Amino acid sequence: MEHPHTNGKLVLFKFLHGFILLCMMSTCPESTTLPSPTLLGNESDRLALLDFKKRITEDPLDVMSSWNRSLHFCSWVGVTCNRSTERVLILNLKAQKLVGSIPPSIGNLTHLTGINLNGNNFHGVIPQQIGRLRSLQYLNLSRNTFHGKIPTNLSHCTLLRLLNIESNLITGPIPNQLTALINLNILVISRNNLGGTIPGWIGNLSSLGTLYLEENNLQGSIPNELGHMAGLVEFSAAENNLSGMVPSSFYNISSIRIFSVVDNQLHGELPPNIGTMLPNLIEISWEYGTGGQVSILGDVYSYGILLLEMFTGKRPTDDMFNDGLSIYQFVTMALPDRVMDIVDPSLLINLEGDGDVNDDGHNIAILQEKSAPKRKNRDLVKAKKFEECLVAVMQIGLSCCAISPRERMLMDAVVRKMSSIRDSYLKV
Ligand SMILES: *[C@@H]1O[C@H](CO)[C@@H](O)[C@H](O)[C@H]1NC(C)=O
Ligand SMILES: *[C@@H]1O[C@H](CO)[C@@H](O)[C@H](O)[C@H]1NC(C)=O
Ligand SMILES: *[C@@H]1O[C@H](CO)[C@@H](O)[C@H](O)[C@H]1NC(C)=O
Ligand SMILES: *[C@@H]1O[C@H](CO)[C@@H](O)[C@H](O)[C@H]1NC(C)=O
Ligand SMILES: *[C@@H]1O[C@H](CO)[C@@H](O)[C@H](O)[C@H]1NC(C)=O
Ligand SMILES: *[C@@H]1O[C@H](CO)[C@@H](O)[C@H](O)[C@H]1NC(C)=O
Ligand SMILES: *[C@@H]1O[C@H](CO)[C@@H](O)[C@H](O)[C@H]1NC(C)=O
Ligand SMILES: *[C@@H]1O[C@H](CO)[C@@H](O)[C@H](O)[C@H]1NC(C)=O
Ligand SMILES: *[C@@H]1O[C@H](CO)[C@@H](O)[C@H](O)[C@H]1NC(C)=O
Repeated sequence: MEHPHTNGKLVLFKFLHGFILLCMMSTCPESTTLPSPTLLGNESDRLALLDFKKRITEDPLDVMSSWNRSLHFCSWVGVTCNRSTERVLILNLKAQKLVGSIPPSIGNLTHLTGINLNGNNFHGVIPQQIGRLRSLQYLNLSRNTFHGKIPTNLSHCTLLRLLNIESNLITGPIPNQLTALINLNILVISRNNLGGTIPGWIGNLSSLGTLYLEENNLQGSIPNELGHMAGLVEFSAAENNLSGMVPSSFYNISSIRIFSVVDNQLHGELPPNIGTMLPNLIEISWEYGTGGQVSILGDVYSYGILLLEMFTGKRPTDDMFNDGLSIYQFVTMALPDRVMDIVDPSLLINLEGDGDVNDDGHNIAILQEKSAPKRKNRDLVKAKKFEECLVAVMQIGLSCCAISPRERMLMDAVVRKMSSIRDSYLKV
């Protein structure tokens, strides 16, 4: 907090019944009526916000009209204050179709903890003054047209937990200064024009759970150090110009769920036991096309077709699939409402055998009508559950044989999903 005596030039405005009392600090008498530094703080916030408003050149939704004198700035659209200090905490103007730029005076909003300008048309550079926002935890500038470099001064925002500048026109390297952002949880710099290499120090950001670097022009190899991020859950460096191999340290990150490195110049194969090494993996996009690395994904395809065959009683070679209709399309078209129309009838009869599902009749639907009122409700629930399970199983079959190998499910994920369907069915 700035002390009044440290800045003789500080101008103090006080709002009183619609007019402003001006008082130069240097000429103010030292008296007990001297306003508190808090008052200075909220006035400088107001000036900074007004400066921000001045840089808005287009505002089709008329959002900024609420930024007027008759309203306290804490009530302006997109502004959230700390009620007791009346300092601006959050500036959230996401998706307001605003055109404009961020003025350097943003650095005067020193109590800001969050900025979200996602999905507007802000242009210009991200000012270095943002480094004065020492309390900043969220900075989301994604989907705008910011250009220039990532400001090195961001390194002073050491409380930052989320930095998202996705889908802008940012160039230059990932600045080494950002190594100071040790609290980063989410770092998304995808879809810009960033160059240089992926710095090894990113591996030292031990709180990082999400790291998206895709669609830039990053070169060189994926550093081994990235494998040190023990809590990493989502990683994508797809669509860059990376070369070399995926470092084996990555297979140590057991928390990882999403992993994508597709569309680079990488080589090397997916380890065959990847499902064991990375038990949480649900989605992987791997460089493929040559070599045998697609083979386990190919197996998943066969498994998917087998599932669809088993549950529909059809073969992909059946006559009905002659006119370009595939078993894949046949099932897709019926799900989820008409699942009982395509399910293999013999499967339903088989289920009667266990005595638990059915007493008589040919299928679950008939059972529902004939059962005694007491059992009826339970049977209905069971029949409904059975239908749900059928839908779920067939959907797994579909995703196993999705057109592109990249979209296919991993075998481990298939097994886990199937077990959970089984468990949920047996619970009824
Ligand atoms: C600044 O805060 C004081 C009390 O904390 C309040 O009376 C005053 O109206 C505020 N000024 C502005 C411009 O918000
Ligand atoms: C920002 O603060 C500086 C000093 O801290 C001051 O000189 C400048 O006028 C302020 N800018 C705005 C727009 O409030
Ligand atoms: C200030 O903004 C509020 C909220 O949008 C609006 O109701 C009010 O009419 C505006 N006042 C002026 C003087 O524009
Ligand atoms: C608001 O400011 C008060 C006084 O500085 C502080 O104790 C409180 O934690 C702040 N609240 C928030 C939500 O930042
Ligand atoms: C960079 O951040 C530091 C620390 O917050 C601040 O003192 C300095 O003024 C900032 N630089 C610029 C150009 O705003
Ligand atoms: C950025 O903001 C948008 C809109 O609020 C939100 O949907 C998105 O999740 C944010 N990005 C991150 C990484 O939090
Ligand atoms: C990561 O942190 C360790 C320990 O603090 C340090 O020795 C190492 O140089 C850092 N690595 C990088 C690439 O900055
Ligand atoms: C990709 O990187 C190689 C060097 O590894 C370089 O020769 C090539 O020009 C780069 N491609 C693009 C599109 O930048
Ligand atoms: C994986 O982790 C183990 C145990 O922490 C360690 O010994 C091994 O060197 C790591 N492997 C790689 C490739 O980093």
